Amino acid sequence: MGFEKNILCIGAGYVGGPTMAMIARKCPQYKVTVVDIDKEKIKAWNSSNLPIFEPGLDEIVKKSRGKNLYFSTEIEKGIEESQIIFVSVNTPTKTFGQGAGRAADLQYWEKTAREILAYSGSSKVVVEKSTLPVRTASAMERILNENSKGMRFEIVSNPEFLAEGTAIKDLENPDRVLIGSRETPEGIKARKEVVEIYLNWVPKEKIIESNVWSSELSKLTANAFLAQRISSINSISALCEKTEADIDEVAFAIGMDSRIGPKYLKSSVGFGGSCFKKDILNLVYICESYGLDKTARYWESVVDINDWQQNRFVQNMLSNMFNTVAGKKIAIFGFAFKANTGDTRESPAIRVAQGLLDEHAEVVITDPKALENAKKDLKQFKQGVTFEANPYKAAKGAHAVAVLTEWDVYRALDYRRIFKSMVQPAFLFDGRNILDHKKLFETGFNVFAIGKAPLKHFRY
Ligand code: NAD
Ligand code: UGA
Repeated sequence: MGFEKNILCIGAGYVGGPTMAMIARKCPQYKVTVVDIDKEKIKAWNSSNLPIFEPGLDEIVKKSRGKNLYFSTEIEKGIEESQIIFVSVNTPTKTFGQGAGRAADLQYWEKTAREILAYSGSSKVVVEKSTLPVRTASAMERILNENSKGMRFEIVSNPEFLAEGTAIKDLENPDRVLIGSRETPEGIKARKEVVEIYLNWVPKEKIIESNVWSSELSKLTANAFLAQRISSINSISALCEKTEADIDEVAFAIGMDSRIGPKYLKSSVGFGGSCFKKDILNLVYICESYGLDKTARYWESVVDINDWQQNRFVQNMLSNMFNTVAGKKIAIFGFAFKANTGDTRESPAIRVAQGLLDEHAEVVITDPKALENAKKDLKQFKQGVTFEANPYKAAKGAHAVAVLTEWDVYRALDYRRIFKSMVQPAFLFDGRNILDHKKLFETGFNVFAIGKAPLKHFRY
């Protein structure tokens, strides 16, 4: 069957895979190919064991794969055959040279641009799907359009706003789709081609068109604002712990104000995930490079508070467990950076586990989906850490349980049974405020939650 259009996506990761699976599902008239340099990943995308866990993903991949959705390592062929190329490669924080620890590392991105140029035989639309510093499109234009073959590449910015764990839901019913381009006739034509793809399922009023710089900057700003709300509430959680105010009650009360709204006010051990920290640091770096020091310091403080909140959690465990955890068994419930994902990138659990291991605790980690990643994250610790799929077994003989991911399974456990199997006095640290603290206290636990007065059985 002939397809109306060939769409290519370079980068088959958390964004490229699900995003393209959704486009293929909603647009049977297009052929969608996703390519990657990682052979193992592509093999997994073509198997029944997909490389990422995301509710609903298996189903939509199964429905389109082999019909109009293809996963391949043939990058050259993919580029040759396509009219529209989405680029969804990773843009991590730079670890070397100028801007190390802050700036985005654009080497994968630039390599992709050069490959597009090398393997293209005709003009194409190139879509920035990765999160990029504002004005990257200008660099892309320079690389791509300085060619001797007479080809013209239009750069369109279409940042992705999906959150992991709800990717399929977010892609199917997005709050908005943002598409930016140059405001030239050619730029607007390219932008409309991308709009046309989304119109297959997204209502017109949810598709925003803008200039390319606004689109690039809106993505960084959206992540900075979301993370800022979490750091704001987390900063207040520390004050709650000193004053017997309850952070969940405060969040509920302020969230009822329609100007503030209730979302992203859940106090926690800190935000994790591959993007919030890297995108804010990138924003900080860009501001600095334009001499906007005040703006840079303002956003940097969002990351500072998050680091502080994670460290504070470990400190709190230590001080409440009589200032030593050496030789004590501590069960960590949840290692993923949030529920419903196996992703552990920048997970607060990494910092907490490291902090406890540095104090010579015996750490047992349990998680329904993230144990393999947890093993990789903690591979430098040759001893002191074990991994256990069953939370009851993880907690057996432990001095403390620390809940670090808000998995539903942890709400439903029999904590009476857990308490009985633990060393007394038994401690429970709820880094996500998901458990019934009063009930746990009545069961016998000493309970420490985020932004709440501790519930202790000790009189002194
Ligand atoms: P990822 O690491 O999961 O996937 C990126 C993929 O690109 C990898 O599989 C890698 O092998 C591949 N790649 C790198 N260079 C390549 C090349 N030259 N040719 C072919 N493939 C190449 O990353 P991700 O989480 O999907 O993120 C991708 C981008 O999307 C980032 O800029 C990120 O900030 C942004 N983003 C991520 C999320 C998220 O939830 N993870 C959400 C929105 C936006
Ligand atoms: C986030 C954004 O929500 C997406 O819109 C964006 O596309 C994505 O980053 C990205 O650019 O990568 P994600 O990191 O997948 O998505 O997950 P979130 O649900 O935003 O959670 C991030 C972290 O904040 C998690 O550790 C979560 O537990 C924590 N969080 C979230 C809180 O501690 N409190 C809250 O109220 C909300």
